[in-house]
Amino acid sequence: MNPFVDDIVTILSEAAQLPAADVAELLAVPPDDTMGDYALPCFTLAKVLRKNPAQIATDIATAAVAAIDTAPRLAGVQAAGPYVNVRLDKAAFIGWVLDAMREQGDTFGSQDQGRGRTVAIDFSSPNLARPFSIAHLRSTAIGHAIYRIHAFLGYRCVGINHYGDYGANFGQLLAAYQLWGDEQQVAANPVPELLALYVRFNDEVEKDPDLREEARSRLKRLADGDEEMVSLWEFFVDAGRKEAERIYDILGVHFDEYKGEGAFADDLDDVIALFDKAGLAEESDGALVVRLHDEDGEEIAPCMLRTSNGTSTYHSRDIAALLYRKSQHQFDKMVYVTDSRQMLHFRQIFQALASAGIDWIDLCEHAPFGMMSFKGQALSTRKGRMVILEDVLDQAIELTRTIIAEKNPDLVDADRVAREIGISAVVYADVSNRRTRDISFSLEEVLNFDGETGPYLQYTHARYCSILRRHGEAVDLQADTTILGEPAEMRVAQSLGSFPGVLARAESDNEPSYVATYLIELATQANKLYNEVPVLIAEDPAVKIARIRLIDAVRRVLRTGMTLLGMSCPEEM
Ligand code: ARG
Repeated sequence: MNPFVDDIVTILSEAAQLPAADVAELLAVPPDDTMGDYALPCFTLAKVLRKNPAQIATDIATAAVAAIDTAPRLAGVQAAGPYVNVRLDKAAFIGWVLDAMREQGDTFGSQDQGRGRTVAIDFSSPNLARPFSIAHLRSTAIGHAIYRIHAFLGYRCVGINHYGDYGANFGQLLAAYQLWGDEQQVAANPVPELLALYVRFNDEVEKDPDLREEARSRLKRLADGDEEMVSLWEFFVDAGRKEAERIYDILGVHFDEYKGEGAFADDLDDVIALFDKAGLAEESDGALVVRLHDEDGEEIAPCMLRTSNGTSTYHSRDIAALLYRKSQHQFDKMVYVTDSRQMLHFRQIFQALASAGIDWIDLCEHAPFGMMSFKGQALSTRKGRMVILEDVLDQAIELTRTIIAEKNPDLVDADRVAREIGISAVVYADVSNRRTRDISFSLEEVLNFDGETGPYLQYTHARYCSILRRHGEAVDLQADTTILGEPAEMRVAQSLGSFPGVLARAESDNEPSYVATYLIELATQANKLYNEVPVLIAEDPAVKIARIRLIDAVRRVLRTGMTLLGMSCPEEM
């Protein structure tokens, strides 16, 4: 993929007599240019080779130097303490990266790994009886980034919203509406009114547990097809969907399929038949279950197909949905994006289906994520204990507006830019941490223009756009770059060259945070470049147009990467 890195790996693995993959894994970019362009740290090799790291580095370097003629892209190999430092022909490297980018244009970063393949991604999938809270943002933002990364790599993507339109919360809403709701008020303003009813039910049920029965009996009537309940339920679901879609518009998220849980409740008999045929469905206290075991043969919680009341379950509805998706979309990969509290749930349905002989079940993956909490300034919660997503976005936009007013009072279109920065800052905060980590969120931190934040990336991108604007001429994509080779230029080029590998790993691990971390690194190198070498005021016009070509390349990768994360890229801010 990168012939320069390939050459390093070949020569060092032969010199060390180690597998190429091990060397490739260890290879790193040293913090300081005087230590070379790439370095192989020898600490972990000490255990395998039973020598001290500095001795290993010396031995590898000596053997590599003897073979250096076989690797014309390399300019030198040298041991320095426990490291083998490698120097490349910098001008050739920079030229290679920029030519590759010119040839690939806007698809640079993709190796077309998804060509002819379909991925289905189940994400966001909010419970529609509850308000769209900040808790839903994680699945929405992470799932959307996973979607975009796959699409960029050539997959046909099917984004699925498996919204929750079924279950106990709807019983609560039906009860609250009939007990306290004002039909006209709710009709006129469904979202805030239903939210208030939902919050009220949850408050009052603590004082009056009998309310549970009010909810349960209505849910039963709904399940039995009672007309009054069904039409109310349809109204609630419709209002919830409209509200969710309004939020998706704000975030720039779209789905290819909306199919809620309720759509699969009637498939219960087919699901049971599948497990019956395999002799796996067992009665247990009136319910119907599939027994499951872990690797050690210990029994784990079963997969429940039918409750003792005879109704479908979250398990059986998900199984029905999965069978439908496979036959409908013929996916090669199916990813579920939910919080990590659902790990057991997905393990149960995957195992149950595997034991029933579903041989494609290995195509399915659960991509769990950790919880989000708040620190610092308390976020207003409009009503109740819920943190409403839109409140968070509004506050982020508001805070951005004040920052812009201070930093750049003359900015045209400041309102639009404030929106783009505020929303992207929240999205970035969500996708930038390792998926499985719990994150704590503070608006001040996510909006810090100098931190590892969304605004920092956008600011760097805008800064580069501004250089190109001031240059005032079209970027010369044929400009001769053999005059380049300053350390800062080399670092930027190395960072650009690693973009395809980062995307490939982000796809296979369903981990958008790799892209986020990568972009921070690229932006940091880019800002160093900006501070260390003159561009517009470079004396030699040939150097100037070569640097402009490099700067344009950085701007493009920043833009591609941010777009993949679901961020916007204002050109001025
Ligand atoms: N509605 C569920 C929730 O809010 C998430 C559904 C995830 N998708 C699925 N196929 N189970 O937690």
